[in-house]
Amino acid sequence: MKIVMGSDHAGFSAKNEIKEYLINLGYEIEDVGTYDEQSCDYPEFGSKAGRMVAQGKADFGVVICGTGIGISISANKVKGVRCGLCVNEFTAEMTRRHNNANVLALGARVTSVDDMKKIVTVFLNTPFEGGRHQRRVDKIAMIENDQL
Ligand code: RB5
Repeated sequence: MKIVMGSDHAGFSAKNEIKEYLINLGYEIEDVGTYDEQSCDYPEFGSKAGRMVAQGKADFGVVICGTGIGISISANKVKGVRCGLCVNEFTAEMTRRHNNANVLALGARVTSVDDMKKIVTVFLNTPFEGGRHQRRVDKIAMIENDQL
């Protein structure tokens, strides 16, 4: 399974640690940056990671900024992306089961790397439930078709 990862400077260190963790678990990782701690703008990396998922070039995305908020908003502007900002294993499970999220956002100034490892593991191992949730996800796509 291929995972695309992106972060700004605030998420750079956590991205490296989560990347190593996922590689050790056998995932293929594409890192779209940023590649150092120099100040940069999260929309660039949220949209790059989001585009790769939307284009089918990666199965899932993991994006990290300071709070996770800016980079999740940015990823969600890409048509076809459903990015969930998760703060614990419960929200990670629910955003897969109910929202069929294809990108996970994390906040490096909010969540420890140890907790991120637990969250990303749940995210990547939880299936979408479908059923009534499919109807709701379809309605999100209708908003995209209308607005984007
Ligand atoms: C960078 O200082 C910070 O604003 C960014 O990482 C993120 O938290 C924005 O939502």
